[in-house]
Amino acid sequence: MGAPGDEPAIARVSAPDQDAPERGQLRFLTCGSVDDGKSTLIGRLLVDSRRVFDDQLAALVRDSRRFGTTGGDVDYALLLDGLEAEREQGITIDVAYRFFATARRSFVVMDAPGHEQYTRNMATAASTAELAVLLVDARKGLLDQTRRHAAICALFRVRHVVLAVNKIDLVDFSQDVFDRIVADFTAFAAPFGFASMTAVPVSARFGDNVVAASPSTPWHAGPTLLGALETADVERDLAAAPFRLPVQWIARPHADFRGLAGTVASGRISRGDAVVVQPSGVGTTVARIVTADGDRESAGAGDAVTLVLADELDVSRGDLLAAAARRAETGDQIQAHLLWMGEHPLLPGRSYLMRIGQRWVAASVTQIRHRIDVRTLAPLAARRLVLNEIAVCNLSIAAPIGFDAYADNRTTGAFVLVDRETNDTVAAGMIDFGLRRAANLHWETLSVDKTARAAQKHQKPCILWFTGFSGAGKSTIARLVEKRLHVAGRHTYMLDGDNVRHGLNRDLGFTDADRVENIRRVGEVAALMVDAGLIVLCALISPFRAERQAVRERVGPGEFVEIFVDAPLDLCMTRDPKGLYAKAKAGRLANFTGVDSPYEAPEAPDLVLDTAAESAEALADRVVALVSGR
Ligand code: ADX
Repeated sequence: MGAPGDEPAIARVSAPDQDAPERGQLRFLTCGSVDDGKSTLIGRLLVDSRRVFDDQLAALVRDSRRFGTTGGDVDYALLLDGLEAEREQGITIDVAYRFFATARRSFVVMDAPGHEQYTRNMATAASTAELAVLLVDARKGLLDQTRRHAAICALFRVRHVVLAVNKIDLVDFSQDVFDRIVADFTAFAAPFGFASMTAVPVSARFGDNVVAASPSTPWHAGPTLLGALETADVERDLAAAPFRLPVQWIARPHADFRGLAGTVASGRISRGDAVVVQPSGVGTTVARIVTADGDRESAGAGDAVTLVLADELDVSRGDLLAAAARRAETGDQIQAHLLWMGEHPLLPGRSYLMRIGQRWVAASVTQIRHRIDVRTLAPLAARRLVLNEIAVCNLSIAAPIGFDAYADNRTTGAFVLVDRETNDTVAAGMIDFGLRRAANLHWETLSVDKTARAAQKHQKPCILWFTGFSGAGKSTIARLVEKRLHVAGRHTYMLDGDNVRHGLNRDLGFTDADRVENIRRVGEVAALMVDAGLIVLCALISPFRAERQAVRERVGPGEFVEIFVDAPLDLCMTRDPKGLYAKAKAGRLANFTGVDSPYEAPEAPDLVLDTAAESAEALADRVVALVSGR
């Protein structure tokens, strides 16, 4: 998010964690829409707590005249709707972070737009908020939107809620109206298990009960909004949790010093404490706690430290240091809540990059268990997951990790998924628990291994992966290659897309998700065959780079040979050996590659076969030459 220089907002932190946390700081999220008066409320909070500088106030008065919606009055909403574009549209977009302080506490306000299409923005803010201010319009009461906001806050474990019943002036400061809304909310939110709920009747426009108690609501015995924020008791959680430190880097300034640097995610650590490195599980004690200000006896959540261990252990960036007596879980299969943030739907089976703590590791969704109604948190049947939807999923991770349940620890239990192609963050995840079934499976050590099997066959096993459009000539060329290798005494096997779809993959069609699964299974089988010592020929359209890359990573270096059977789409359409292009163009066959389904050509194939320039025989010779050269 940009920060235009002329915006009238007060000091803004560009990222949530850039400022060192002060004692007693509260990070809170505001939920509501423009109509509810949310921006006005926050602007009022900032101004009335006297933290807006004079020049900013002058700018505000000037802007109120230009853009204001409140006649001659100062439009406090303009304090928040900082971006020019937003101001002109009169709506708030993205998440804005703002900082203010009173004598009693400092605050980070996170303001996210309320509309459903911005669920991911709100969730991003919620995942680091300790408290949420939920805004309702006194005239309208609880709306679907309020329910959605409350549910998302609950899901992301925002433990404390302040219900601000705004525009109370417009219902004549009626206690009845207020009480009814509070009762509705209390009943609705009971299953969410918030640690505290405080309700305040406010008028953002006129300032009633925002900072100062209003004479118009003598019946309100509770705090003002600022009072509720100043006194919310949110500190206990993190300090009480077990010690966790995701290792950010290994500090090695000279040969005699080796420290593990990172920020304490939760709990406390003291010199002499027993710790374990996870997932490996090896343990030792803490010899020194080094900080920018010298050595310390102990450190707590939020502190950036370098720990020197009593023993030299094998630790890498991304490992998790945990209290030996209260370890994190370890494993490579988990159940998690996923909020999908990608423009394209989730593809189960696709390999995404998971970032958890300081660790990057490949991971894929093996199953969408069910989706979640974002108003009630009730489960819904689902086979797909698209932008702004939330689902409970099983994930398989390429290597074991150390983690906690999100319910226990919002740092070590949270992760994101990143698309390998676009580098976009496509999901925010919250771990529910590790799947035990994986913990009871072990690798059998086999005495006859790949090397032995390959040696017996006098060959180097590999996968020859032919990719390209339907009709490009993949199967034709692969067949010729196999014949030649066979004659030369090589041990081969061919996995052809059409054939495999008659058996192993007969349950799959041609949606993106089914193609991902098709390639995953064929890749898995091919990898087993490589392990058996074979030269495996795979001829599949395999339209996605991510899946071809995943197969490459599944086998050893050099064992995956990507062969791009390059035939222009026009040529394939003219050839149309099975008459399928004609059908697809006539609209009688959906999701046909090149017609209404994409093909991602390889960026760095090991071999390109130009079928327009050379015969199938000549191209097969090239492949055989490549294999012999290995
Ligand atoms: S892949 O995309 O999942 O790799 P695969 O290579 O297994 O596809 O199967 C492609 C073959 O299925 C094509 O050669 C064609 O004969 C047949 N086919 C049937 N429907 C389609 C379709 N919608 N898109 C592409 N190929 C199809």
